[in-house]
Formats: sequence, C-alpha cells, structure tokens
Amino acid sequence: MRSTFWALCASAVMAVALGNSGPGRAEAQPVQSTAFTQCTACHSIEAGRTVFGPSLAGVAGRRAGSLPGYNYSAALRSSGLTWNAATLDRWLTAPQRTVPGTKMPFAGIPDPARRKQVVDYLLTLR
Ligand code: HEC
Repeated sequence: MRSTFWALCASAVMAVALGNSGPGRAEAQPVQSTAFTQCTACHSIEAGRTVFGPSLAGVAGRRAGSLPGYNYSAALRSSGLTWNAATLDRWLTAPQRTVPGTKMPFAGIPDPARRKQVVDYLLTLR
C-alpha cells in the first residue's frame, strides 16, 4: 500500500516536471481542472479526508500546518504562513523554497497563469 502510494506520488512529481509547460495540452478540458489534477494524487478536497497530504477543504484563511490530526512537518507548522491568494501563490511557485524542510514532494507550478488558476480554485473550497 505504502509503496504503491509512493509510486503514485513519484509519478505525480514526474508529471509536473515533464508535463507542465507543454503547449496545447489543456485544450480538451477546462484549464482549471487540468492544473488541479496534479494535486489530487495527494490531496482531497473533502473535509477531514487525508490522502497523503492534508485535505484542502477550507484551506483559505487557515494557518499553515494547523489541521488537527494531520502529521505536518515541523517546517510547515512553524512557517507562520496563513493561506490566502498571496501565500498560496508563493507556496505553489516552489514549495521547498518557500518553506525549506516541507515534506510536500512537489516541484511547483512555474507558469503564473496556471498557478493563478489553481489558487483561484483553492480559494473556493469550503
Ligand atoms: C506528491 C504529493 C503532493 C502533491 C502532488 C501535492 N501536495 Fe500539497 N502537500 C503534500 C504534503 C505531504 C503536504 C504537507 C507538507 C508538510 O507538512 O510540510 C502538503 C501541503 C500542502 C498545503 C498546506 C496545507 C495546510 O494545511 O497547511 C497546501 C495548500 C498544498 N499542499 C497544496 C497543494 C496543491 C495546490 C497541489 C497541486 C498544485 C499540491 N499541494 C500537490 C503533498 C502533495
């Protein structure tokens, strides 16, 4: 189970590394859901449901690393961030650079327009 899980995560990271900037990939589907798909390998948008990362339900306005019952890295817990449009944009640009020591194994979304689509979507999650 665990190793399947890591394989899944590794392929998610690969997909990000390889597939993010290819032109014309987003045509068939709304760009927003395409961009967020890479997150769903590790994140649920259902309250209280942990996949590998913490649930992203109600993430807007939440203090980073504060969801009860999720085993965050010390780095994220003590980052002092509160999630809003600006901090989410910074985080998703390069998680490991924004919060050194985070255990989110995700390289980031280099394209600002795609990042904004994901952030706008995150802000709607209740
Ligand atoms: C390979 C798995 C993985 C992928 C892919 C991934 N995440 Fe994460 N995410 C995590 C883990 C693990 C954490 C907890 C990090 C920590 O404790 O340092 C996390 C934490 C977060 C947090 C902080 C939540 C909180 O409660 O403070 C946000 C926001 C987030 N991820 C958003 C995203 C978004 C948006 C994407 C897609 C663009 C994404 N993640 C992709 C694994 C992942």
